[in-house]
Amino acid sequence: MQIGIFGTGMVGRVLSAALVAKGHAVMLGTRDPRATAVRREPDRYTGESFADWTAAHPTVRLGTYADAAAFGGLVMNATSGHGSLPAVQAAGSALDGKILIDIANPLDFSKGMPPSLFVGITDSLGEQIQRAAPKARVVKSLNTIAAPLMANPRALAAGDHTMFVAGDDESAKTTVTTFLRDELGWTDVIDIGGIEASRATESLLLPWARLFGLFGSPMLAFKVVR
Ligand SMILES: NC(=O)c1ccc[n+]([C@@H]2O[C@H](COP(=O)([O-])OP(=O)(O)OC[C@H]3O[C@@H](n4cnc5c(N)ncnc54)[C@H](OP(=O)(O)O)[C@@H]3O)[C@@H](O)[C@H]2O)c1
Repeated sequence: MQIGIFGTGMVGRVLSAALVAKGHAVMLGTRDPRATAVRREPDRYTGESFADWTAAHPTVRLGTYADAAAFGGLVMNATSGHGSLPAVQAAGSALDGKILIDIANPLDFSKGMPPSLFVGITDSLGEQIQRAAPKARVVKSLNTIAAPLMANPRALAAGDHTMFVAGDDESAKTTVTTFLRDELGWTDVIDIGGIEASRATESLLLPWARLFGLFGSPMLAFKVVR
């Protein structure tokens, strides 16, 4: 499958490397592909520059957000919370009809750690993205765990933890659930409702960030038992 991923940070890198290893063709979307390709500053999480990373992953293509949306039979949004609407707007009509898995969180670090959310309770980033791209089929998912777990859930508790999908398009959620299971290894996926349920799953970042501070490790996840 051809997959477009908006974002050149840790999430875009982890997912593209994993999906290429599974035999998929991936294009990362960025604001300025030429500038990004030679970017030397270290990533804030991994310390690796994008120039070094892309040299080690030469099969991962790089393009604009519109290029990545056009390339992908499936598209994923892994841009920063504040960058998500500009990225979706830049992709424009290339997203029409496409499934867009939205991984972004509306994190607000302006008052330090732990972060708060710049939208929540009565709206969500997932809903804003769906409104900005009304012909895209937005499915919120993968935003509740750290990047290393997205493509390797078994790295924690033998994979026995929960992933949510939220979106208004039922067939898109079915496709994404199958993709999560077959391509990324998720076994416990809960359809939590329409895209407005992004308010709930984005809000999980509040306890997630507190627990990260408490335990000093991002290797933590939520498990629903009933
Ligand atoms: N890191 C994690 O473990 C993790 C876990 C769960 C969810 N998330 C969420 O996943 C998303 C990606 O996280 P990340 O850590 O991989 O990367 P990030 O540093 O949050 O975002 C990097 C990407 O955002 C783009 N961006 C920033 N400002 C922009 C703007 N004004 N317009 C357009 N694009 C803009 C950058 O574009 P350029 O390439 O042009 O610089 C880059 O591709 C975030 O929303 C985060 O909350 C992250």
